[in-house]
Amino acid sequence: MIRIGIVGAGRIARVHAKTVDAHLDAELVFIADPVEDAVKPLAEKYGIRYSLNPDDVFTDAEVDAVIICSPTPLHVEHILKAAKAGKPALCEKPVAMETETVEDLVKKLENLDHKTMLGFNRRFDPTFARMHDMVKAGVVGNVEQVTIISRDPAAPPKEYIAVSGGIFKDMTIHDFDTARFFLGDITSVYAVGQNLDPDLKDTGDFDAAVITLANSQGATATITNSRHCSSGYDQRLEVFGDKATLNGENMRPTQVRVSNGEYTDAKDVYLDFFLERYAQAYALELNEFFAAIKENRQPATSIADGAKALRIAEAAEESARTGKIVYL
Ligand SMILES: NC(=O)c1ccc[n+]([C@@H]2O[C@H](COP(=O)([O-])OP(=O)(O)OC[C@H]3O[C@@H](n4cnc5c(N)ncnc54)[C@H](O)[C@@H]3O)[C@@H](O)[C@H]2O)c1
Repeated sequence: MIRIGIVGAGRIARVHAKTVDAHLDAELVFIADPVEDAVKPLAEKYGIRYSLNPDDVFTDAEVDAVIICSPTPLHVEHILKAAKAGKPALCEKPVAMETETVEDLVKKLENLDHKTMLGFNRRFDPTFARMHDMVKAGVVGNVEQVTIISRDPAAPPKEYIAVSGGIFKDMTIHDFDTARFFLGDITSVYAVGQNLDPDLKDTGDFDAAVITLANSQGATATITNSRHCSSGYDQRLEVFGDKATLNGENMRPTQVRVSNGEYTDAKDVYLDFFLERYAQAYALELNEFFAAIKENRQPATSIADGAKALRIAEAAEESARTGKIVYL
């Protein structure tokens, strides 16, 4: 049984706490967050110990491995603390706010015997993973175009946007990783940022974007993002090649279709948000983290993957601000 400590007790910590609690190979034992109103209810829900000092997670003797769910600017500090304590860590995306910080982290990690995984959960989503397996098996032939649609049901609070690092590092980072998952390393980035939501104009961030990426063979990925979507959490993926096209569609709680005198083929609304839509992906991501610990190897999604997605996010920001294509 792997005993898990969580640092940070916000939205994503609640997802991981629930998944760990249900896992047969792991046990949630400790959680820390400086805000008592956040950490105490979560600790009480799972009957575990808690602390208002985040550092306690890294020194607690009962904690075998750590899940880092703190705000992004703290990820690097927390990854290093876990590595120095000899505790494997699964860290949420993005790894940091700037590439330079990650380069410094990578250098420091070189001298430490560590296991660090980055939380690109969508690679583990059964639909996207199956599409990836089919590409690897040659079903699609040469991948020519990847189309990713990712829209949130509603924008997060402005306070969250203010510290999020902006739409590309906070939201599109998942899609940049998905593009890399199918296309490998990206060589050019062209982004159009949009400010269509009057309520978010004063955040200084884009509330929607369309990004075109290309790899060295000329294959492309087009990403369409919005912070809001009237039909719900819209998550679609298409992979087009010279032999086949794969489509990953939105997921619904049931497959029932309703037809009547006003409409036909109406279905349930999409699974509500990331907690529901990617519940299986978070669980399978944890499976990989636990397997890597047991097999004494590095987990599948690495800091290097995080660094490459972050570099694309920086290029997208530059492209959207200047109107130019950025070459990597
Ligand atoms: N993989 C995903 O699908 C996904 C989804 C949501 C968020 N995230 C990522 O998870 C991270 C957290 O996001 P969130 O939505 O849970 O944010 P949140 O604001 O809901 O929670 C963050 C928590 O961190 C706590 N905190 C503040 N200072 C801290 C410190 N020094 N040490 C430990 N905890 C501290 C806050 O009190 C808060 O409870 C972000 O990096 C975000 O990008 C990933």
